Amino acid sequence: MISTKIQSVIRDIHDFPKPGIVFKDVTPIFKDAGLCLEIVDAFADQLSGLEIDVVAGVESRGFLFGLMLAAKLNVPFVPVRKPGKLPFSIVKKSYELEYGSATIEMHTDAIEPGNRVLVHDDLLATGGTAVAASELIQELGGVVAGYAFVINLDFLKGSERLREFSPNIVSLAS
Ligand code: PRP
Ligand code: ADE
Repeated sequence: MISTKIQSVIRDIHDFPKPGIVFKDVTPIFKDAGLCLEIVDAFADQLSGLEIDVVAGVESRGFLFGLMLAAKLNVPFVPVRKPGKLPFSIVKKSYELEYGSATIEMHTDAIEPGNRVLVHDDLLATGGTAVAASELIQELGGVVAGYAFVINLDFLKGSERLREFSPNIVSLAS
């Protein structure tokens, strides 16, 4: 099963980036090309039937599978970036996440009004990042079609915050 494979390679790093946080280190996944392809295929299978016009991936770990998934689905990929990185006009949102606060930005022409956007990130924790990305997508006139995460830290109940945007929440491991 893909969840077992993912769980067998990721590792827990205690007290990173702050005391009390158990950080899920996903970098070993990227060393296994076969597993990366399996992850993208699993996303595509579990999202089949969902109309998706654009994949939005969140910097930085959400870029890695985000572009692979967009290419697999044959739709555009758009980056949701940390502050000060995007050169064109932007919309931005600040939010809280498991270990602090952050701001994300999108280009104002990243999506067309009415586009159905899949939000992708490597990991769902409190949901703060995914909620902020969803709010930016709505601000640009898009519709959140669903979410795709490699890992969902269920105990933080992030998915409960996402249901108001879309009930379509795919995650491959916890
Ligand atoms: C991590 C992760 C998600 C977010 C999840 O990103 O990649 O984007 O935290 O947390 P939340 O559900 O509580 O919002 P981080 O900000 O650490 O950035 P990185 O991807 O650049 O490492
Ligand atoms: N992002 C937010 N919480 C995280 C965690 N516990 N591990 C990895 N990334 C995270």
